[in-house]
Amino acid sequence: MKEIYLDNAATTKPHPKAVEEMKIALTTAYANPSSLHGMGIKAEKLIKEARKRIANKLEVNPKEVYFTSGGTESNNLAIQGVANSLKRYGNRVITTSIEHPSVLEVFNRLEEDGFEVKYLSVDNTGKIKTDELKKFLNEDTILVSIMGINNEIGSIQSLAEIGELIANYDNLYFHVDGVQSFAKADIYPEKLGVDLYSISSHKIHGPKGVGALYIRKGTRLDNLMAGSGQEAGIRPGTENVPGIVGFGKAAELIPTKEDRDKIYKLKELLVNRILDEIEGTVLNGPDIYSGACHIANISFEGVKGEVLVHTLEREGIYVSTGAACSSRQETPSYVLEAINLRKEMIEGAIRFSLSLEITEEDINYVVDKLKTSVTMLRKIMQR
Ligand SMILES: Cc1ncc(COP(=O)(O)O)c(C=O)c1O
Repeated sequence: MKEIYLDNAATTKPHPKAVEEMKIALTTAYANPSSLHGMGIKAEKLIKEARKRIANKLEVNPKEVYFTSGGTESNNLAIQGVANSLKRYGNRVITTSIEHPSVLEVFNRLEEDGFEVKYLSVDNTGKIKTDELKKFLNEDTILVSIMGINNEIGSIQSLAEIGELIANYDNLYFHVDGVQSFAKADIYPEKLGVDLYSISSHKIHGPKGVGALYIRKGTRLDNLMAGSGQEAGIRPGTENVPGIVGFGKAAELIPTKEDRDKIYKLKELLVNRILDEIEGTVLNGPDIYSGACHIANISFEGVKGEVLVHTLEREGIYVSTGAACSSRQETPSYVLEAINLRKEMIEGAIRFSLSLEITEEDINYVVDKLKTSVTMLRKIMQR
């Protein structure tokens, strides 16, 4: 059976060239990169090359890129690390109500530890209101953390505008969870006034379990782990050399602007055909071109998203009800609640997330299968 993978916001298929370089690293550069001998130096060189490849894409200095175990760790390190190091300057920290749990849960902990946490609301397209941010910012604020692209609805925040507001304050850092925006938008942290930028390998066709945190030179950040001093002591522990190598290769191969336009065209075809040909459907969050190229969140009235996921799976189509990490939970999506979607539409929401591997033919196949599946499920629901 044909398999069509439309769950690329959850994770992506590793690029064959990344896998190839990983294999070489795993089999020929297995020495400890901290070892003094030639084999150690070979492994260290591979890490250096990967760091350079990632830094090139972010247009930053390689010395500002620190490897971690993934987006979750990068977010924890950035937020908790800044809170620990700047707590003597202020007690207020700001984030949004639609962040990934690897951000929100850290802010919950900060709240328990006595920080004053402000959560920015979003409009029905999933964008924060800069006026609300202006109101929240004060001399006591030490950190603002805002995601570049939302993982459930693909809303894109205006980081340049936010960065300008933040630049007016001393002892205030700007962190961006860039896990969904790296490779999907041209975000250059230094130019946008972003001090810390989290990225993850497995969302860009690299291996799982590896990520990075960009830390602008001069940013004061406490490390969370003590150890042997790797990654300048910010993130000690023997490096995941093959993972880092695969991440570096995947970063080198990230989609160009033309590639992203191709993905937008596929998204346009998918969304327009669904909205035109299946009654009782809505596109949630931003409209096609205001949102990320790779994410379309659509509600199917009168259908349970979870049931639709499994029905499509039987046709070889892989989609998701929302964020992979929370889609096995019973609780409704807090992101869809935040954009004021009514309960029935939240329950009937499906996230389609695309990649360059998808073709127009695949999209047409998916819509055809969706039409029959939705009709069948609605009939069953009416019985
Ligand atoms: C926006 C966002 N932030 C953070 C993460 C966590 O990244 P990782 O899976 O690399 O820990 C994800 C993964 O789903 C995400 O979508």
